[in-house]
This record gives sequence, C-alpha cells and structure tokens, in this order.
Amino acid sequence: MSGLPQVQHVAIIMDGNGRWAKKHDLPRVEGHKKGAETVENLINYIGKYGVKYLTLYAFSTENWKRSEEEVSALMSLLAFFLEDKRQQMLDNKIRLRVTGRIDGLPKEIADSIYKVMEETAKDYEYTLILALNYGGRAEIVDAAKKFAEACISGKISPDSLDEAAFRQYLYLPDVPDPELMIRTSGELRLSNFLLWELSYSEIFVTDTLWPDFNEEEFRRILENFGKRDRRFGGRK
Ligand code: FPP
Repeated sequence: MSGLPQVQHVAIIMDGNGRWAKKHDLPRVEGHKKGAETVENLINYIGKYGVKYLTLYAFSTENWKRSEEEVSALMSLLAFFLEDKRQQMLDNKIRLRVTGRIDGLPKEIADSIYKVMEETAKDYEYTLILALNYGGRAEIVDAAKKFAEACISGKISPDSLDEAAFRQYLYLPDVPDPELMIRTSGELRLSNFLLWELSYSEIFVTDTLWPDFNEEEFRRILENFGKRDRRFGGRK
C-alpha cells in the first residue's frame, strides 16, 4: 500500500479482553468472543497492507492456570473459529500454522488444527500463525532437547552450533522473525511471547483493549513503524 512501509511479519499480544468485558459489565467470556471478532476482521484486512505472516498469541502455556470455565470457553471459541473460518482462510489464500505444543491441547482441537493446517497448506499467499499452548521459554527448551537428541544420535556435533543452526530446532524455523510486535491494553511486558524471534523487533504498545482494536489503529502503527530507525545493534 502506497506510503506505508512493507512489513513482512507482524506479531500481536491480544490483551485486554477481560478488561473490555468488565468495562461493559459483561462476563469475561464475552470479552474473548468480541476479541475473536477482532481477529476475524484483522485477517480480512491485513493482506492489503502486504503483511505475509501474522502471529497471534491466542493461548499461552500459562493460560492453563485460569479458571476451568475460562479455559474451556477459550477452547470452544478456538474450535468454533477453526470450523467457521476454514472456508474464509481457503478463499483468502491464508495458510494456518500453529506455534506451540499442539499435542498438549485437547484432542478434538489438535485434530481440527492438523486438518485445517493440511487443507490450507496447498495454495496460499498469507500465513496466519496461532500461538497456542505457546511459551517462549518452552519453545527454547523444546529446541534444546531436539538439538541434544541430534547430538546424541551423532547427526550433529555441539561445536557446530551457532544461532542459525539453533534456529532450525525452533517450532517454525522457516518463518522470518517479526519486524513488528504489537501489544494491546498498555502492559509493558513480553509475557513469554516469541523470546527468540522478537530479539530485534520494534515493539508498539497501545492502550486500546483488544476487542476495540481496528484497522485505523493498525494503519497508524504501520505509519509510525515507518518512522523508526532500525539499527539492529549497529550504527549508521
Ligand atoms: C488476553 O486477554 C487474551 C487471551 C488470553 C486470549 C486471546 C483470545 C482471543 C482474542 C479470542 C480467541 C482467539 C482466536 C484466534 C479464536 P485477558 O483475558 O488477559 O484480558 P485482561 O488482561 O484484560 O483480563
């Protein structure tokens, strides 16, 4: 889109569903439902900004600590999303991928994820990555385990390890790092999100609650991103 910078990969911490529900005197679950609508809208407009990869933090390894009622509502919303958006993803050439411990999710959800991932992997232009049962430290630990196994089996030697080699053991090694990470609802935290991948990302925090996040704000963030001086630790 003219005048706006090209951003290949945007990652988002979708925070504030609970606060939105409280503000509207509604149960927390209603905030998540409204937040899922924001996701629906986002996947409809993001392609026109040239964003090829969108990663959304939908359920963290820590989210299991929430009440059984809330966890089960989030799982139902996810199951509904996968079923309901399947066709939209196919029509809009969106490939679904997941980062996280898929097999730690309820079996019906994991089955549904594998099915939609397979169906959408054939003909696509954009990639929607849902971070599910995801933790940044868990990802690094899982990668370290896979690396140790490869060492034990003699496929690789510890001496050959460097950052590029280690990356191959992460969940989605082929996906470029996000240039931009957005967090809604004002908290200045990473919350265990993409710890490896966000090393050089620009971070934007907005006070907007996730259910109120919209295209106009996304556009403003992109404009602001275009003005940042990205040096990657170097100097011009
Ligand atoms: C944080 O809000 C949000 C989550 C833990 C879950 C994100 C889930 C959705 C946006 C809906 C489902 C997603 C998909 C892809 C269908 P919070 O509950 O921590 O908010 P609070 O900090 O205001 O309480």
